[in-house]
Amino acid sequence: METYKISENKFNTDKLQKFESIACQGNGYMGVRNSLEEEYVHTHRNTFINGVFDAPHEEVTELAALPDVTNFELYINSERFDMLTGTVNKYERSLNMKNGESVRRVTRTGENGIKVTYVFSRLASQTHRHIVAERVQIICDSDAQIRVVTGIDGKMTNSGAQHFGPAELRSYSDRRIGLYAKTLQSQVDVGVQSVLKSSEDNKYSVKTDRRGVFSCMQLSVNKGEPVVFEKISAYATSRDLGFSENDSVEEKCKKYLYDAVQLGYDGLLKLSAEAWNNFWETNTITIASDNKFYQKAVNFALYHLHIMANCEDNRLGIGAKALSGEGYKGHSFWDTEIFILPYYIYTEPQTARKLLEYRYSLLEKSREKAKKYGFNGAMYPWEAAWSDDGETCPLSGGMDLETGKSIEIHASEKEVHINADIAYAVWHYYIATGDKDFMEKYGCEMILSIAEFWLSRVEERNGRYEILDVIGPDEYKDGIDNNAYTNYMAYFNFCLAQEIIQNISDEYRKEFEKKIDINGLEICLPQVMDKMYLPEPDENGIIPQFDGFRDLKDVDYSLYKNKEKVGMIFDDYSFEEINKMRVCKQADLVMLFYTLRNQFDNETVKRNFEYYENCTLHDSSLSLCIHSLMASRLNMLDTAFKLFHKCCEVDLGDNTDNSDSGIHSASIGGIWLAVVMGFGGVKAENDALTVEPVLPDGINSYSLPIIYRGSKYRLTVSADEADMERLSGEQQTIILNRNNITGLRNK
Ligand code: BGC
Repeated sequence: METYKISENKFNTDKLQKFESIACQGNGYMGVRNSLEEEYVHTHRNTFINGVFDAPHEEVTELAALPDVTNFELYINSERFDMLTGTVNKYERSLNMKNGESVRRVTRTGENGIKVTYVFSRLASQTHRHIVAERVQIICDSDAQIRVVTGIDGKMTNSGAQHFGPAELRSYSDRRIGLYAKTLQSQVDVGVQSVLKSSEDNKYSVKTDRRGVFSCMQLSVNKGEPVVFEKISAYATSRDLGFSENDSVEEKCKKYLYDAVQLGYDGLLKLSAEAWNNFWETNTITIASDNKFYQKAVNFALYHLHIMANCEDNRLGIGAKALSGEGYKGHSFWDTEIFILPYYIYTEPQTARKLLEYRYSLLEKSREKAKKYGFNGAMYPWEAAWSDDGETCPLSGGMDLETGKSIEIHASEKEVHINADIAYAVWHYYIATGDKDFMEKYGCEMILSIAEFWLSRVEERNGRYEILDVIGPDEYKDGIDNNAYTNYMAYFNFCLAQEIIQNISDEYRKEFEKKIDINGLEICLPQVMDKMYLPEPDENGIIPQFDGFRDLKDVDYSLYKNKEKVGMIFDDYSFEEINKMRVCKQADLVMLFYTLRNQFDNETVKRNFEYYENCTLHDSSLSLCIHSLMASRLNMLDTAFKLFHKCCEVDLGDNTDNSDSGIHSASIGGIWLAVVMGFGGVKAENDALTVEPVLPDGINSYSLPIIYRGSKYRLTVSADEADMERLSGEQQTIILNRNNITGLRNK
């Protein structure tokens, strides 16, 4: 198995969309689904630019499907290239994650009897981030006439929702073509330019349709002689970082394209591959196992983690499907802070800071949201897009198959744990990086503003403070009281706020008082903390996920667990019925042991892990990784490894359609979590980095990089060694506990 390649050697239209997602190319600025050049019914070609959101009429905003440049229609003696006709003699297709290039090789004998070999190559440049470069090489086994039609297709939609007004189409004397359009609601200018070249003389023309402009080339080839077409395209938008009022997307595209065309496909590939190489040299995680699938899964995770965030732009988050598909509308959830951010904190801390600054940019809208619901402080959107958009969670989410009615979504109002998740992430970033500047400028204000929200959200009942009517991480339960995860995390937020207030300088206090009621916090925090209800283990040692959880009725979990598709329980029950069952969609209570591990003893963690894993269907891709991580921490290594395997299969497994609308960013962050924080046992504490590695059977050894407080380390673990080598920076306090490695312990 090639561990850097995502490949297929059989053309299967059922798998088109999955391949488009998992082999998506990009660079944080844009994402280009890996669709085939020629059109098929099942294809879902899409290019997205991070931050270009737009709201269709009466719907929430979403990442808009941009004009497409990946299309190529090829005709050999008038017969259109299509792998569903003629005879495909050879087919192989792969994305090389090592250099970011995707290549498809096809040999097809057409109905006209001509045997043609095609090699399609494509990249989204790492160094020229506005550029997509494509190359098609064709060799015919007889003399032939070739016609190529390729251009900029503005007829793209998000499952039918069109985001652009009329397109302005252009053809320039230097053979560039251009398309310019504005998003309908958000009024973002988007420009695309392409230029097509061929290795042989050609007859060139341009054709247009209502929303597209295309270059056409016609030429003759001799038997066995290759002809090469190169298409380079540039995207620019008025939301690009640094784009000013005096700029025009047309001029920007022209400039980007000019620079890229000088380099040509090969030059762009060389630079982009070098950038990828630098990335892999510094960030490689090695997993030595007899099964190479694990190395591949980790490479896959690193590849996508690297291209999902725009490392330069603090106005942008990471979507639940990153830039690889239209699922979840490009919105950011708690997925970022809890599942993805740890990778950035310990690998690219400067990008982690940008991602948290993005959350800071949502603070004003979060204050407005809190007011709207009658609360104080900042109530973060459950789903976030562009900062001005505020809450973007849709109110309805498809049809309940049992009742035939639309499922109402209450997450924007009730899934409030996201607030504590953000505060937690700020703290996690801070203790792992020591970035005081961030805390002073952004972090403290975020933590205090969210604490203000919680103070107004808790309710005094039964002589204690409770949090009522919420949705916890387990989205199969709506309107529950005292979700343990939410209560503990809110309490943790209070602790952080209290610590900030106790240590705040007069200068900062004055500054914060402009927006935050510091006196109010000072008075109320101790009162509420003193009587905050934090659910404790019951007589069986089980912490109730929420009030009454243990009284819910059981279901035969085996009917819905470990199935080829998630959500199969909805075939048999309505949402209302599931709400009353003792069944969890995803890690909920177990999340608590991941975030606030030190607050619980091992026995409690183990008992609850076993109890809750049993009734968790893992119907969310956020579930397996956390369970694997926790099993590692509990030294339940076989379970940890099994769950890790399944987590790797979320996007890379054989299941055909679960990644169609995009990769699962949180689960991809989760692969990293399961390896680094699970097997590696890496975790920043207040004053030290603790490292408690384990080595499950099935992995012979592993090695991974960690940046902690500006110093770079590499953890290497095998049966006879567990070592943290400092690669750069000053020595930090690292507590390496080798006791869990069986081989070492026996020495
Ligand atoms: C999960 C949420 C998650 C969202 C986006 C849902 O299915 O239940 O926890 O935030 O997907 O990934």
